[in-house]
Amino acid sequence: MNLLIINIKQLLQAEAKCKTFVSGKQMAKLPAIKDAFLYVESGRIMDFGKMNELNIGRERYFSMSEKIIDASNKFILPTWCDSHTHLVYAGSREKEFVDKVRGLSYEEIAKRGGGILNSAALLQQTSEDELYEQSAERIKEIIALGTGAVEIKSGYGLTPEAEIKMLRVIKRLKENFPIKIKATFLGAHTIPLEYRSNSDEYVDIVINEMLPVIAAEELADYIDVFCDKGFFTPEQTERILMAGMKYGLRAKLHANELDHSGGIEVGVKYGAISVDHLEYVSENDIELLKDSDTMPTILPGSAFFLNLPLAPARQMIDAGLPVAFASDYNPGSCPSGNMNLVLSMACIRYKLLPEEAINACTINSAYAMGISETHGSISIGKSASFIITKPIPSYEFIPYSFGNHVIESVYINGELQKSYA
Ligand code: NIG
Ligand code: FE
Repeated sequence: MNLLIINIKQLLQAEAKCKTFVSGKQMAKLPAIKDAFLYVESGRIMDFGKMNELNIGRERYFSMSEKIIDASNKFILPTWCDSHTHLVYAGSREKEFVDKVRGLSYEEIAKRGGGILNSAALLQQTSEDELYEQSAERIKEIIALGTGAVEIKSGYGLTPEAEIKMLRVIKRLKENFPIKIKATFLGAHTIPLEYRSNSDEYVDIVINEMLPVIAAEELADYIDVFCDKGFFTPEQTERILMAGMKYGLRAKLHANELDHSGGIEVGVKYGAISVDHLEYVSENDIELLKDSDTMPTILPGSAFFLNLPLAPARQMIDAGLPVAFASDYNPGSCPSGNMNLVLSMACIRYKLLPEEAINACTINSAYAMGISETHGSISIGKSASFIITKPIPSYEFIPYSFGNHVIESVYINGELQKSYA
């Protein structure tokens, strides 16, 4: 469908020449066109600019469009790219939530066989169809919140059958929903109880029994390991990443959430596309990241939910690094995939400027999931996936107005998905 949107108060993150990410001081720059138009053909952005450029020279767009939308007083920005989630899971874990409220730590719950193992036990008993249905609801929910691309991990299976079941569900989600989905194999999410005294044996299963099937069925785009205190060591992580690379899977790591785990070093060494969480970052880690193609990714929802120390986002940006923000949507440490809240937390808790936060949740998070050629900004030829806000005074109002709903409608590939009008 051809679509013309006129009188847009400001068209945000719109650039003729599309960048793949922004770092350091550039993160504070958000390209914005005032009094703008946007023209969409067959799901892609075909043109945009100022209204006077439309009225003199591009009048044909009016007759070529099946739908014309007046966006007076409203802002348009690209949909959020959520580059780190675990949204395929069974059930929920609110009982552990109460345990945490009573004072138990995430690690204490995990040591007792709760946490990820709890979700794994339930997922193993859940049929593929049922798992698909539960996960599809979450995809609908995040689209309605303005997410236009999402990365989803396995890791609640922990047996070859159940890990493959999860990845097949992600494949079905890819086939049935219009948003861009990337799949990550996270067999090494935690060590199952029966391997606690010999975790290398479980690593062998991940490498020799899970990976070959997953690669043969082309079920994963990336490979991940929870490289952290009490989970997998840097040495085990290296083994898994090397094995994944043989199948062409690039790394995306869980690193340095619970301690200085060595995860950032391993990630950079193996050319990870992103290292995520990063509550514990040293000066040396920052130097390593500077010389890399790895996107440091911060997950404010899980730090909030678990009361973790805050990742040093400001320090990283001031050191010249790029930073992405994502939700970590999962049943244990962040039962929310609301990227609008992530945006607000980026400003409120991590001291990012609104421009930096919008870059972190769009173009930089697109890079962190390998899709910045097609998503993350309003550029010619990219997917026409965008948010139209309600009438609001400024774009700073979006993160400022935390917990409120500023979205009026969500378009994915030029098609209306959700309207609150
Ligand atoms: O990203 N950190 C590891 N994994 C998830 C938590 C998973 C869970 O508790 O179920 C996370 O926070
Ligand atoms: Fe995670």
